Amino acid sequence: MKSTHTNADMSHQNGIVYKTGVFFNALKEHGVVPTLRKIGQRIFYKIKGVDFSTQNIYDLTRTGEHQENGTALVSTSVDFLKQLLTDLESCVDAPLKKELFVDYGSGKGAALIHAKKLGFKKAIGVEFAKELHEQAQSNIEKLNLKEVESIYADATTYTLPNNISLIYFFNPFDELVMRKVIANILEQKEQFENEVYVIYGNASCNVLKENLTLLKEVKYPSGATADFFKL
Ligand SMILES: C[S@@+](CC[C@H](N)C(=O)[O-])C[C@H]1O[C@@H](n2cnc3c(N)ncnc32)[C@H](O)[C@@H]1O
Repeated sequence: MKSTHTNADMSHQNGIVYKTGVFFNALKEHGVVPTLRKIGQRIFYKIKGVDFSTQNIYDLTRTGEHQENGTALVSTSVDFLKQLLTDLESCVDAPLKKELFVDYGSGKGAALIHAKKLGFKKAIGVEFAKELHEQAQSNIEKLNLKEVESIYADATTYTLPNNISLIYFFNPFDELVMRKVIANILEQKEQFENEVYVIYGNASCNVLKENLTLLKEVKYPSGATADFFKL
């Protein structure tokens, strides 16, 4: 289990050494064509002015009472989300209903934007850092996406819409916040219209394992992990 590193300095991820490492890892793991596709997509985003870069949160304006309990912004890549959805689908009986995707701690909106592109009807993100939420809004606007929404709020105050089908956590906060969020979600459970699945990337606490039905745990060659649950 990874430690949460709340308020950690993650700025090294924007440096040339780190990026070169990521490039060679991608080449080794995925091969030349997917890596070139990835670079092409990065260039497209750069031209459009879309920014998913890693960012520390300790100097940002954070709302709510859990300002010291969150992790730095590290955005989910489209390939990682695609892999997660494939792995989830391989362990559920019926095809995944791609109705509503909710990302708790949605940063600059990367996972929301990818989820919409990967077939979800709607994607909503909750982000407590004002500057990241504003960047998410700007990214969504620049890509001209409808039915993709970033909400500026502390995750513990958010009430899920009843048509939720997939909840995503990419190690956004520590155990204290996760406990409150899961308690809120379980309180609402009876109202949900769909079978609801939960993906927890790079898990840093056992709250989900203690409260939800674990379907599968995966460790990827990159070192990332994901736990898949049914609500
Ligand atoms: C590791 S990043 C994940 C970003 C995004 N989910 C993605 O996959 O691209 C974690 C994010 O959670 C946000 N966060 C941390 N604590 C939060 C809280 N209590 N409520 C809402 N957002 C929070 C951080 O500001 C950061 O943007």
